[in-house]
Amino acid sequence: MSNKVIVGTQWGDEGKGKIVDLLSQDFDVIVRYQGGANAGHTVYVGNEKYIFHLLPSGVLHKGKTCVLANGIVADPDVLIEEIEGLEKRRITIDDLAISDRAQVTLEKHLKEDAAKGGKIGTTKRGIGPTYRDKIDRQGFRFGDILSDKKVREFKIPKTKINYWRTNLAQYIKDTSLLLNKLQKQGKRILFEGAQGTHLDVDFGTYPFVTSSNTVAGGAGLAGLGPRVIDDIVGIVKSYDTRVGEGPFPTELGKYHQTKKEKQPSEKNVSSLLKKINDNQANERETGKYLRAIGGEYGATTGRPRRVGWLDLVQLKYSIRVNGITELALTKLDVLDQLERIKVCTAYKMKEDHKMNGSLVKEFPLDTENVEPLYTQLKGWKESTESMRTYKKLPIAVKHYLHFIETFTETPIKIISKGKERNQTIIR
Ligand code: IMP
Repeated sequence: MSNKVIVGTQWGDEGKGKIVDLLSQDFDVIVRYQGGANAGHTVYVGNEKYIFHLLPSGVLHKGKTCVLANGIVADPDVLIEEIEGLEKRRITIDDLAISDRAQVTLEKHLKEDAAKGGKIGTTKRGIGPTYRDKIDRQGFRFGDILSDKKVREFKIPKTKINYWRTNLAQYIKDTSLLLNKLQKQGKRILFEGAQGTHLDVDFGTYPFVTSSNTVAGGAGLAGLGPRVIDDIVGIVKSYDTRVGEGPFPTELGKYHQTKKEKQPSEKNVSSLLKKINDNQANERETGKYLRAIGGEYGATTGRPRRVGWLDLVQLKYSIRVNGITELALTKLDVLDQLERIKVCTAYKMKEDHKMNGSLVKEFPLDTENVEPLYTQLKGWKESTESMRTYKKLPIAVKHYLHFIETFTETPIKIISKGKERNQTIIR
């Protein structure tokens, strides 16, 4: 049985939470290896909605070991709140470990991010300043919570440290040692990536990125080495979204319009759909429709997400830099009622760029100055939500899936088309 990494192939919010929750059943250990409370994974079980910022979504399953590895940064207050929130809903966390090497987000980091994060449009969770202090060798680590000397050095108030020690001391461990032991016992490990490939500090749309390595390679830094990873699952949403600033080649409507937008009423959504299918809608209206149907409002910040058509140039790049072996396509149902569906298959450099008008097929360094070129596919205009097998899917869906698979040379093994665990087809 193999160990897997799950990564987002876009700008985060691809629906990883649901897929991790689904796949968790087959694994013994779930590891988060980077990022912090900037992530927001939403999982629905029946009528219950759970939002996780730090804890791996796997905590919803009994008997799993959940690990927050050394590469993460966490605000202990948020972590305690999340653990208590689950306990209040009668979900006991059987087995949680936080790396003694993971970095603590302190009050000063939150303040700095709130004051300076504006340009990038950060989540204001102190992520950048915490990672900066780590790299600058100024960080306070979870293991330091247990050291009186470090607590004095960092001037952590007594009430705060007591609160952290009471609630977290039991979880703070050498997680590399723990993972190695579990690995030797033959336990199966699932590495849960947060954010998405295009927010990676090396491979993303820099500087509009987060501060960690979100790509699958980051999982190799969890203290087990990279050789333990067998499969890499890329999560791709059937359209694209982005939160915050930065280039977005297939964006529908302008970012400043999205920022101001209110959620449309049901009636408005129906008239938007009619306009789109009559070929009368502009880009902003198409974006508004996808945002409303997809519920694209940030799990962490509540901000309306920027929305665009699926970008296969971007996806191909993600497959390459992560070494993705299979894809999971999410939110297919959002496209259900559309007459026509577009996918971006190449870019043209804008006229005022030095590569003026040239055709680009590989995701370039500069995506600020590209114009997307689309292939238009036929929609299926039928609800796929209750279809339980691949065979039952409309022919136009099969064609859409086949198009993506052929273009990216990667199989789509999971198709998700609804919030519930059972609204998923596994091929
Ligand atoms: P930071 O990670 O809070 O420093 O924010 C840096 C950029 O990454 C901003 O554009 C955020 O909106 C974006 N970002 C961070 N985490 C997520 C996520 O989980 N989903 C989507 N965008 C994110």
